[in-house]
Amino acid sequence: MLLVGLGAVSTTTIAGVIAIRKGLATPIGSLTQMGTIRLGKRTDNRSPKINDFVPLAQLDDLVFGGWDIFEADCYAAAKTAGVLEPALLDQIRPELEAIRPMPAVFDQRYVKRLQGPNVKKGKNKLDLAEQLIADIRNFKAKNNCDRLVMLWVGSTEVFMTEGPVHQSLAAFEKGLEASDDAIPSSMIYAYAALKEGIPFANAAPNLTADVPALQELARQNGSPLAGNDMKTGQTLIKTIIAPGLKARLLGVRGWYSTNILGNRDGEVLDDPESFKTKEESKKSALDYIFQPQLYPELYKDLSHVVRINYYPPRGDNKEGWDNIDIVGWLGYPMQLKINFLCRDSILAAPIVLDAALFMDLAKRAGKSGIQEWLSFYFKAPMHAKEVYPEHDLFIQLMKLKNTLRYMMGEELITHLGNEYYD
Ligand SMILES: NC(=O)c1ccc[n+]([C@@H]2O[C@H](COP(=O)([O-])OP(=O)(O)OC[C@H]3O[C@@H](n4cnc5c(N)ncnc54)[C@H](O)[C@@H]3O)[C@@H](O)[C@H]2O)c1
Repeated sequence: MLLVGLGAVSTTTIAGVIAIRKGLATPIGSLTQMGTIRLGKRTDNRSPKINDFVPLAQLDDLVFGGWDIFEADCYAAAKTAGVLEPALLDQIRPELEAIRPMPAVFDQRYVKRLQGPNVKKGKNKLDLAEQLIADIRNFKAKNNCDRLVMLWVGSTEVFMTEGPVHQSLAAFEKGLEASDDAIPSSMIYAYAALKEGIPFANAAPNLTADVPALQELARQNGSPLAGNDMKTGQTLIKTIIAPGLKARLLGVRGWYSTNILGNRDGEVLDDPESFKTKEESKKSALDYIFQPQLYPELYKDLSHVVRINYYPPRGDNKEGWDNIDIVGWLGYPMQLKINFLCRDSILAAPIVLDAALFMDLAKRAGKSGIQEWLSFYFKAPMHAKEVYPEHDLFIQLMKLKNTLRYMMGEELITHLGNEYYD
């Protein structure tokens, strides 16, 4: 598993996997490690573990590598992130210390609040991409890997929209050579992975691989692609609650969400341009779940506000507040308040692991391009141009499990259930 960025999420994922395989901890939150899947009829009593049903890579077989602009090894980086207890980290210290970040492709114009010493130099962006490809090949040879997956778990870059250089692979490659400003660091990593036919997933809200040029490359080289932005914390809760309100046709006038967090992610998001990227990613879910065009009386003028406040004392332990103004029978107003004291990276790590294992499975199943069945894991799921993204967590889970059934030649489950009463 190649991780771009050895920050809070990456180190919590890596340390978690190492601790779990030593029997020191439990993989709570991971569908690949703990989830089951029902097969056949409800009366069949067949619900194997997903890990026994589909041929996933096993935790014992994983090796980790990555890049960061800081030189700290994975142990030191995990200490800085402050998510996991030193008592746990000390039990796996040698394994973590052995993971040292390779020099990064980084340009401060895309992440304003960061600067670090462990950065590559190159004559243009194509040269930097080639250096990453060399890193990928060296890592694979040195660790004797059969396969690789790459995930961007680096900082949130500034807000960008699709431009001419992103429209085709040919334009993009020219842009790399000309060091076009519209190609941020994350796109260079995505290009390097896809060029090597490796699955690539984006755990952050950056534009990254969500452009026609990189999707073309993914299809051409047989690379599965997924993103964007892991669905944790407040958005996870939003996509659990909103489908429930909608199912009962309760109206929503306003949804006010605010967060305080004090980790490095929070510091980066304190920059308005990086925050804009996150805001867009966080705000899209409700519109798609509520479908105001179909239910104008219930959701048309919903006021949806999202705030993130950088507050250092909290570290990775984020606090989110949601105030939801809802409307019931005959227009009577009600309120729902949610106060979520969560741990961001504890929620992110299991789904980073799942996304990596499923992307590897997708590659072996011959899938390439956007993997919409993995929407379950993302705040702003990548999707085909002609369809809207599916945000409802429960529909996403059904889609994921049906894809696994389909891959393995099992009957899809529709929940119709007529057969029990015929
Ligand atoms: N924690 C969560 O629950 C969560 C959820 C969804 C998305 N995310 C996103 O995941 C990303 C990582 O989050 P985090 O909490 O681990 O942040 P973090 O700041 O702890 O880690 C990010 C790391 O990426 C490194 N980095 C930045 N640019 C880089 C580059 N070009 N090349 C290599 N390394 C680079 C930074 O130096 C840093 O160490 C963020 O974009 C965040 O928004 C986090």
